[in-house]
Amino acid sequence: MDANQSLRIVAVVNQKGGVGKSTIAIQLAATLSRRCRVLVVDVDPQQSSVWWAGNARAGLPFDFAGRQHPNVLVRLRELHATYGVVLVDTPRMLEDTKPVETVLDAADFAIVPLTPEPLAVEPTIRTITTLIEPRHVRHAVVLNRIDPRIPTQLSTWQALLDFTWGIPRFDTHLRQYKTHADAPVLGQVVTTLRDNRSTAGVIADVTRLGHELSGMLEPAPVGSW
Ligand SMILES: Nc1ncnc2c1ncn2[C@@H]1O[C@H](COP(=O)(O)OP(=O)(O)OP(=O)(O)O)[C@@H](O)[C@H]1O
Ligand SMILES: [Mg+2]
Repeated sequence: MDANQSLRIVAVVNQKGGVGKSTIAIQLAATLSRRCRVLVVDVDPQQSSVWWAGNARAGLPFDFAGRQHPNVLVRLRELHATYGVVLVDTPRMLEDTKPVETVLDAADFAIVPLTPEPLAVEPTIRTITTLIEPRHVRHAVVLNRIDPRIPTQLSTWQALLDFTWGIPRFDTHLRQYKTHADAPVLGQVVTTLRDNRSTAGVIADVTRLGHELSGMLEPAPVGSW
């Protein structure tokens, strides 16, 4: 990758469904739009983010391209003067991994959301070892839907990632909040949510994740990936 090129293509991927790919793509796009121009590309045939964007009557702080064939990402390099970050929302994968592979071929970084449930583990590790690592795409897991009422949940899952599986992760995690589940219906994103007691946690978590991702997207030292 050309270190002078400012565009960063960030894929949000996990073969497991329902782990928060669309939630994280849209909410991260909103918070990153405070620092640069952001485009969200949805290559999911189910297009949950298309529906979310359609509900946003007040408009979104980023550009949105739904119903895209993954091949468009190759052409996106030509838009590097326009966009700082492109976030790609990808579908869960049953058999056909080709669309996600095409996205990963074009990606600078992959975010892998993981929810703390045993059934999510195997597909997550498979996504990383069979699709991401062979392409040498920099990546990190983000723990999502962490329940603060379960005292050891966060530390247990962090330890599994760090010591049992040896998978890179974000320091930031996203807690489980009803606001996240309501946001698509209301067409809300962190930058349009009213900041109050029930939304403060969501805004804080997503803002922190955005800062951490921005740090990771700085040009990598030569020879690293
Ligand atoms: N941190 C959270 N707190 C509460 N609800 C959440 C959180 N993250 C995601 N959800 C909810 O969980 C459901 C699944 O999330 P989402 O649609 O983002 O997952 P996905 O990985 O994109 O799913 P799919 O594989 O079907 O595309 C949605 O109803 C979403 O609102
Ligand atoms: Mg989705």
